[in-house]
Amino acid sequence: MKLEKVKFITSDIKESPKFFKNFDVKGKVKSAQLTITGLGLYNAFINGSKAGDSYLAPGFNDYDNYLRYEEIDVTDLINEGSNKIEVYLGNGWYKGRFGLMPRFDLSEREYILAASLEIKMAAGTVIVIESDESWSAEESVIRSNSIYDGEVRDDTFKASETINCRIADAKYNLEKSLVPPIREKHVLKPELIRTKSGENVLDFKQNMAGVIRFINSFPKGTTISLKFGEILIDGNFYNENYRSANGGFVYISDGRKKTVEAMFTYFGFRYVKVEIAGMSDEEAVKLIDPEDFTALVLYSDLKNTIRVKTSNEKVNRLLQNSVWGQRSNFLDVPTDCPQRDERLGWTGDAQAFAYTACFNMNCEAFYKKYIRDMRYDQQKFLNGDIPMFSPCLGDAAPGGPAWADAAAIIPWTVYEHYGNVDDLKEAYPMMRDYTETLIKKDNESAKDHLIKVGHCFGDWLALDGATKNSFKGGTEDDYCRAFYYWYSVTLTARAAEVIGEEEDAEKYFHLADDIKAAFIAEFITPNGRLCIDTQTGYVLALCFGLYRDKEKLIKGFKRRLAEDQLKLKTGFVGTSFLLRTLFENGMEDYAYRMMITEEFTGWLYAVNLGATTIWERWNSVMPDGSMSPTGMNSLNHYSYGAVAGAYYSYVAGLRMASPGWKKAVISPIPNYRLKGIDLEFNSPAGTYKSAWEIRADGQFCMKVTVPEGASAKIVLPYHPEGSGDHGHGLAIDAAAGEYEYTYKPTVDFIHPYNGDTFIADIVADPNAVRALTEAIPGQFDEALTSSYADNSSTNLAGAIFFTPIADLPKKIDEILKDVEAL
Ligand code: BGC
Repeated sequence: MKLEKVKFITSDIKESPKFFKNFDVKGKVKSAQLTITGLGLYNAFINGSKAGDSYLAPGFNDYDNYLRYEEIDVTDLINEGSNKIEVYLGNGWYKGRFGLMPRFDLSEREYILAASLEIKMAAGTVIVIESDESWSAEESVIRSNSIYDGEVRDDTFKASETINCRIADAKYNLEKSLVPPIREKHVLKPELIRTKSGENVLDFKQNMAGVIRFINSFPKGTTISLKFGEILIDGNFYNENYRSANGGFVYISDGRKKTVEAMFTYFGFRYVKVEIAGMSDEEAVKLIDPEDFTALVLYSDLKNTIRVKTSNEKVNRLLQNSVWGQRSNFLDVPTDCPQRDERLGWTGDAQAFAYTACFNMNCEAFYKKYIRDMRYDQQKFLNGDIPMFSPCLGDAAPGGPAWADAAAIIPWTVYEHYGNVDDLKEAYPMMRDYTETLIKKDNESAKDHLIKVGHCFGDWLALDGATKNSFKGGTEDDYCRAFYYWYSVTLTARAAEVIGEEEDAEKYFHLADDIKAAFIAEFITPNGRLCIDTQTGYVLALCFGLYRDKEKLIKGFKRRLAEDQLKLKTGFVGTSFLLRTLFENGMEDYAYRMMITEEFTGWLYAVNLGATTIWERWNSVMPDGSMSPTGMNSLNHYSYGAVAGAYYSYVAGLRMASPGWKKAVISPIPNYRLKGIDLEFNSPAGTYKSAWEIRADGQFCMKVTVPEGASAKIVLPYHPEGSGDHGHGLAIDAAAGEYEYTYKPTVDFIHPYNGDTFIADIVADPNAVRALTEAIPGQFDEALTSSYADNSSTNLAGAIFFTPIADLPKKIDEILKDVEAL
């Protein structure tokens, strides 16, 4: 590798230096390649043109572990004659303010650069320009820069002196990046709006992570300031939810027409407020042409692998929001958010979204890097445990349940999606060491196969916590601890089995059985009821078979949901399993209702309020359009975007049946609330398609494609020759090919009301109300209906409205009388 022999150079310049060198090339150039890395971030130009197309290189990891370099073809940039290579250096994740807690002072860290430019001449000779003491350094037009605090660039600045670079005392494990770099993936054009208070704001119509590129035609000395925000509040620009992150780019024009963009930062935004120093908004607007501004959407250059569309435009927006959440948070590390003073690789968020992420994009290389980063933190800082976020850059604290368990969940998810046993082998030592720390925690407490010690974020941001804005939901810490103990041990056992670590497999499977027994003894009554009466409580036990009596749990869960009026109350722990649990336990009507409800809190609530990404909280924005009154409130957190995975795997019905997708199950679960879905997934084994449609005449039409070399079990839901139930529809073993089925299903999707219907749905449907009023004269009149529909916030009335007709203990008319008596 070329760079290994190349010297790192540095200089005494304290802020954002530029290192450069002039050189001559005589004769015709055949090809030229620049091999380069630097810290914190580098941006190389040859003869004024940017070399390569990556952003924020060398990316985000702990550089004490490894440092990545790039090889860039720069043939087109070399002149015959005199040439100049310039490399700007910024702070990035390496230097300056970054991270949650003030860790240690990084301001003294040196900017460093290693570069080797190899020019092959047509005549057969080779010219090599390497970083060494012959390079010069000076202060650059980048006057300050920081991931959190944006950038200041002054093109009128002229360095007062040029000094020589010197050799840095730097040793790094250099390697070529195996992850695609961060690139410009989309460009968006804005509309210029004047806000209520007269501010000039560019609206890009889409929340995202990236930077602005603009054409500078401002007069010399003009200071232009761009401020970034995700939402307008009260019709005005707002970015208080960035907390201490400055969220701005300031540019001082030299009067020359050119394109300008930030080099060493990025922003999370939909709106950009444009201000010109010394001018009122009225005056400034005359100088702002929205055509001059472009948003560059930046993220790791991963291949998109999903195409999905349903019959409901709001659902389509929700599914796009999930993808945009990923686009905004897959910048070399799976981050929590792209805007405020965090942007960290939170492990809990990452594991909750991983299954869905691997449908949306090819994430194998991306997660392999993340796994490696977690492994490094585990060994270097936490003696086997896994941090809250990774790379932790030394700011290490154990993540606790659901966060640290990313160590087991992410490698297993990646293995299931990509089917690569070598990936699992590589990740296994981390899984095993983490499992052993869990065992240690168990032994340190009562040694009863239940963990009761250690940090726990709980069911983070669930709405059943102590207060409306509590961080922690209502599901007990010990329950989360016990569940994730079982879950991680189980996944580690499975991994051990796959890679042939038989002794480990046996040991961990055995332990998982013991944990399950302890879990049931602790949290399920002898008669089979669950003691943890929260949505997440039911979800975890039901989804993973941790019960004595499934039917009792389902009954309890339905009651819980009715009392919660079918509103989402799960947090980071329960949400990623919620819909799967409902679909797999015959509760699809509950799932669809929650997915399609537009009220607070259903999945479409945020869409209705104009969300273009997934919010951090169910109540990030209140129904009146104000921000939820809390200091931790991002509008671009991907983890609840896990809802998309349920649309792919249960609504469209596409699930893997063998790791790597050589075999699949295509078993959709339709419902009258959605008229159709059309999904195409470019899996590692080829492109699967699953589409269905409920036709106006009640016919069900399904189209499936199984890719070459793969096979699938197709299940035709509610088929007359099946048993009638979706779970026991008509199963067909299918080889590669295209299939189409049209039939009259055994359920009536056109006249859908039956014993499973919630009273709330009938109450909301004027036709149904009319029919019932006529059928039960005097009992079901409109007055009663509307008064209780409005009143459904009182618990009992709400519970009744959200109970299916057939599950009511009494006849509907009697029940409604009871309600009236309230
Ligand atoms: C982050 C989360 C993270 C959480 C941990 C927050 O500040 O944004 O998404 O998982 O802290 O509790």
